[in-house]
Amino acid sequence: MRTTEPLKFLTPAEVPVLATAFGTPTFIYDLTSLEARYRYFATIPNAFGLTIRYSVKANPNRTILRVFDRFGAHFDVSSVWEARRVIAAGIPASKILMTAQEVSLGWEGLCRQGMQYDAGSISQLKAFGIAFPGADVSLRINPGFGSGLVRKLTSGGSHSSFGLWIDQADEAIELAKRFGLTIGRLHFHIGSGHESTVLEQTVDVALQLCARIPSVQILNLGGGYRIAALQSDPQYDHHAMGERIAARLRDFARAHGRELKLELEPGTALASLAGSLVTRVIDKVDTGAQGYRFLKIDGGLTELMRPSYYGALHPLVTVQADGTLPTESEEVMVSGHCCIAGDSLTPKPGNAEDIQAQPLGMVVPGDFLVVERTGGYAASMSVKNFNSYPEAAEVLRSAHGQYTLIRSRQTFEQMTENEIDATL
Ligand SMILES: Cc1ncc(COP(=O)(O)O)c(C=O)c1O
Repeated sequence: MRTTEPLKFLTPAEVPVLATAFGTPTFIYDLTSLEARYRYFATIPNAFGLTIRYSVKANPNRTILRVFDRFGAHFDVSSVWEARRVIAAGIPASKILMTAQEVSLGWEGLCRQGMQYDAGSISQLKAFGIAFPGADVSLRINPGFGSGLVRKLTSGGSHSSFGLWIDQADEAIELAKRFGLTIGRLHFHIGSGHESTVLEQTVDVALQLCARIPSVQILNLGGGYRIAALQSDPQYDHHAMGERIAARLRDFARAHGRELKLELEPGTALASLAGSLVTRVIDKVDTGAQGYRFLKIDGGLTELMRPSYYGALHPLVTVQADGTLPTESEEVMVSGHCCIAGDSLTPKPGNAEDIQAQPLGMVVPGDFLVVERTGGYAASMSVKNFNSYPEAAEVLRSAHGQYTLIRSRQTFEQMTENEIDATL
């Protein structure tokens, strides 16, 4: 039996204040929570050094990138475009590792500036060898299995095109030799929201491969660390996981005389819980005595696609227009504002095809609904401009509770500025 969820970091009184100042829907990111999440990961026990690479895809807003840079993070990017955002934020290219499905125009220039390159296929490795013979390279390996919150988030195993299939390692080693490349890092990312037992199996496979490639100095285990978003979610102890990995790295060092440095690339675990989306309830309808009651809000797929795409549950919290929490609750569905049936924020757990009512504090149109866990994979992964709704604003809340606008709401003119009046 589910109960209503609490707000993560906002107070109920702040919600109408934010709505008045910035409009709705608006993302609020909390600096204190971002710092706490980073410090937690940066202090994971390790054997011979740990680098945290913030996974830019979670939230690429330049202020968020600068915040993580100030904390001491390095960066994981998935495209040349993400790399360009990091550099545009004033961060040196040498702090970037690119692990991309598409290695597009301009990648060589970024590598010349110092960006590190993680080859995820034989053809990516070849392209790097041709452009940078004799350089250092990293290999992303698909270990033959994976784990993720849902299948769509699992990026290891035979149904995943990510990384060099483990059996192609010999071919990759030969190819690297041909171009005089030094394989300094092995990289594994088996999925987002993985089971840590599967990650630890990955470490075993990874160390067998590290043993065969004497030049490897760094083991990168990607991201995907689970978080407790709902009250019913278990708490995950990433420090205990760090201890177990460190023990394996120490064993490896004793056996092979090599002290491997560890890299982790969390996105979700650093950013997601540090963001809230403030929306307004715009309507309340029902489908009769045998049906359901629905709240409609002024956000949805245009800000967050995880519920519709993965069946992911986000904590939803209603707040009354006067900034207080409702005293009574009811079972309701929540629909986004898009004119498409799939825009629901109350999927049946793990089943994006179906919906299920949730207990929420009772509200009426004009009140607010806060969607939690929206600091990552929300603004960055939304169905932009569907139904021509403008991109939402983004605000950073400082440690002293001050609000700074870090992305303005998109205007109509910005939404249509690249369209060209063709002569018909
Ligand atoms: C290579 C790589 N590293 C890190 C991440 C971050 O994963 P998460 O946000 O689940 O921590 C991803 C996510 O897809 C990824 O593909």
